[in-house]
Amino acid sequence: AQDARALLDGLEPDTRLDAAKGQLNALKDDRLAALQGALRALPAEDRRAAGTAFNTLKQGIQEALDVFAARQASAAGVSTFDATMPARGMWRGSLHPVTLVIDEICEIFRELGFTIALGPEAETEWYNFGALNFPPDHPAMELHDTLYLGKDTLLRTHTSPVQVRTLQTYKPPVRVLAPGQVYRRDFFDATHAPAFMQLEGLAVDEGISFVDLKATLAEFARRFYGASRRVRFGPSYFPFVEPGAQMDVEVDLNDGKGLRWVEILGCGMVHPHVLEDAGLDSEKFTGWAFGMGPARIAMSRYDISDIRVLYDSDVRFLEQFAR
Ligand code: PHE
Repeated sequence: AQDARALLDGLEPDTRLDAAKGQLNALKDDRLAALQGALRALPAEDRRAAGTAFNTLKQGIQEALDVFAARQASAAGVSTFDATMPARGMWRGSLHPVTLVIDEICEIFRELGFTIALGPEAETEWYNFGALNFPPDHPAMELHDTLYLGKDTLLRTHTSPVQVRTLQTYKPPVRVLAPGQVYRRDFFDATHAPAFMQLEGLAVDEGISFVDLKATLAEFARRFYGASRRVRFGPSYFPFVEPGAQMDVEVDLNDGKGLRWVEILGCGMVHPHVLEDAGLDSEKFTGWAFGMGPARIAMSRYDISDIRVLYDSDVRFLEQFAR
């Protein structure tokens, strides 16, 4: 039996096991049968001790054969499944960087009590300009380089018409965030695109002041950019707000020039004309609104210098954002 085990211990679980099995079976079938015959020829007084020795031998050989069977089974397993092989890479999709920024901003404003509102991309002149206090033939209409679909229909140049549609539909208190695509007659270059995303915010209720605007937008910036980031407000002009402002954030564009003020949104108190045109009493209600461009925010956050890569659908660019 010891010889049989020594024979097996020296072998790897491969085809040589077949040779070992042959030898062991021969030992069992031939030599044991011969020994068993010899036992019967022994004198009666020796037979008992010889029988015990014979059984130990037989057991040992069987054990060696069992070990062999186990090794052969695991050897067979290894040949079809190797758990140490590296897995094949999975083809995983990723969200677009602008979508990531929009989702993050929506989540922050959701925590601040805002819900999502959507409006059509094909608008009338009235919703896009008239109801937003643009005087007829105002140069700002030129400034927006509007793409017209017909005499009175156009592709919205900003998401601000959703302010009007929201105020027509829901009674204050209103707090909405409106993400969506907007269009302007611009050629593609490193910093312009004819279609891009905007994010509009609107809060209207009784007794809302500029303090609410500043506090809410500064809190947004703290949550989005980090608590230590400085923000500042400065005057700006949009026909549908009065007063109008812009919010700048100090950002490092990683161009070696350090921190610098970057405008991230336009905002202001909703103009009384806008409230009245939407059917609200501007003596009773006040509100504030903002609009920002998530593509610009994504570009500064992810060090993107040419806006066109956001439109190329190049998988090598997009898969960097897989999470
Ligand atoms: N609609 C403005 C734009 O497209 C942004 C804005 C929205 C400004 C709301 C003030 C209030 O530039």
